[in-house]
Amino acid sequence: MAKVKSKWVCQNCGYESAGYLGKCPECSSWGSFVEETQGGNNKIVPLANDIKPSLITDIQVGKEIRVSTNISEFDRILGGGLVQGSIVLIAGDPGIGKSTILLQTSGGLASQGKKILYVSAEESAGQLKLRADRLGVKSDSLYIYPQTNLECIKSQIEELSPDVVVVDSIQAIYSQMVTSSAGSVSQIRECCNILMQIAKTKNITVLVIGHVTKDGNIAGPKVLEHMVDTVISFEGDKYKSYRMLRSMKNRFGNTSEVGIFEMGATGLKEIINPNQLFLNERSQENIPGTAIIVTNEGTRPLLVEIQALVGATPYPSPRRVANGVDFSRLLQILAVLEKRVGLNLSKQDVYVNVMGGIDVDEPSADLGIALAIATCARDVVVDSQTVIIGEIGLSGEIHPVNNLEKRLNEAAMTGFKKAIIPYANRDISNPKIKTVPVKRLIDAISACISPVQE
Ligand SMILES: Nc1ncnc2c1ncn2[C@@H]1O[C@H](COP(=O)(O)OP(=O)(O)OP(=O)(O)O)[C@@H](O)[C@H]1O
Ligand SMILES: [Mg+2]
Repeated sequence: MAKVKSKWVCQNCGYESAGYLGKCPECSSWGSFVEETQGGNNKIVPLANDIKPSLITDIQVGKEIRVSTNISEFDRILGGGLVQGSIVLIAGDPGIGKSTILLQTSGGLASQGKKILYVSAEESAGQLKLRADRLGVKSDSLYIYPQTNLECIKSQIEELSPDVVVVDSIQAIYSQMVTSSAGSVSQIRECCNILMQIAKTKNITVLVIGHVTKDGNIAGPKVLEHMVDTVISFEGDKYKSYRMLRSMKNRFGNTSEVGIFEMGATGLKEIINPNQLFLNERSQENIPGTAIIVTNEGTRPLLVEIQALVGATPYPSPRRVANGVDFSRLLQILAVLEKRVGLNLSKQDVYVNVMGGIDVDEPSADLGIALAIATCARDVVVDSQTVIIGEIGLSGEIHPVNNLEKRLNEAAMTGFKKAIIPYANRDISNPKIKTVPVKRLIDAISACISPVQE
């Protein structure tokens, strides 16, 4: 009789143990171990057993074949369209619009004559049809297949020979080869492995939807991200209409590219000029505590407003709140402001917010954050026609930033007249915008602030 193997797997990080553990030694989570039993035949099948090593100079390859999704922002994030035979993972919060974008993409691909198999493991065919009607997706080559069993999905792929397979979602499908329930670490790993083999051996593009955990990580084992060719994160504020697609890993293109969309009744629409979106709600008056930065998201500069509020604290230890900026980065900027500029914030609460709900994790935002805080604390303003670009070092010096030409160009095109830039980047200029190079944080403060006009 075949021996049934049993192991305990952490559902948080995939750590495996022979017995139950209360706390995971890998990710320190408590009570996350689930027993998983495996049948005999669960080995990774090699793609082909007659492959021999060959000299790199002897290998002949054609140019990778890319297919447009008909959504130009999505194409840009993918590095110029979907690469045939690749496997792409799209991960995001519940209800963010994962099924919507992939149904729209399926419609776009089908309109170019591609045969699509949309495997809906979470919703019925009727629900998909209602969404497709709402989005205006209709095609003779888009097949909807409500199925959760991977073996059935595999046989349908063999029967239909589609160009593209969409799996909605990887957490909802299961393979008979693994006895644990759908969504478990072993199931996700096995299902992704089989889908990867289908993509590579049959040259079919596979788009996989993945859920994220409470803390924002892709649910399932880390190996899932390693296995796929491209990982795209779908972000945004559920309470606002815009959404962001961000490339986290791409074997065929640049990472950290960002595409911005607006969610509406007819689906996701690309926003070609996102600066208008982020700066639209901005008050045109000069207000203490606001600064405009030019952050670089992938190949695209984005103008974003930083707001700060500084006020006397009623608490024994002052509060520091960072929304959209890294908390430890904020603490570092505050320390530099205290030590190098002489701004005493030890009895002040400091709140920093990035408008539009986006996350800015680029060091070039430092100077803008510092100026927003400093102007609020001193009740002075940064001129509303000025953008602030620069990274702050611990001794208060301003470090150079990359892609300054593009940033200046974007700021000039959006109508800004002046840019505070790092001194080391002083050679870079733009005829449409005045640049003011600064060496130190204190110079930046004196270069761009003016008293509040009554
Ligand atoms: N009629 C509508 N008008 C505007 N927006 C809508 C409409 N219907 C749905 N939406 C938007 O679509 C979102 C749901 O999209 P979708 O089902 O694609 O998300 P999902 O990420 O696949 O969700 P899940 O995790 O549940 O599968 C809603 O949160 C809402 O923002
Ligand atoms: Mg969905």
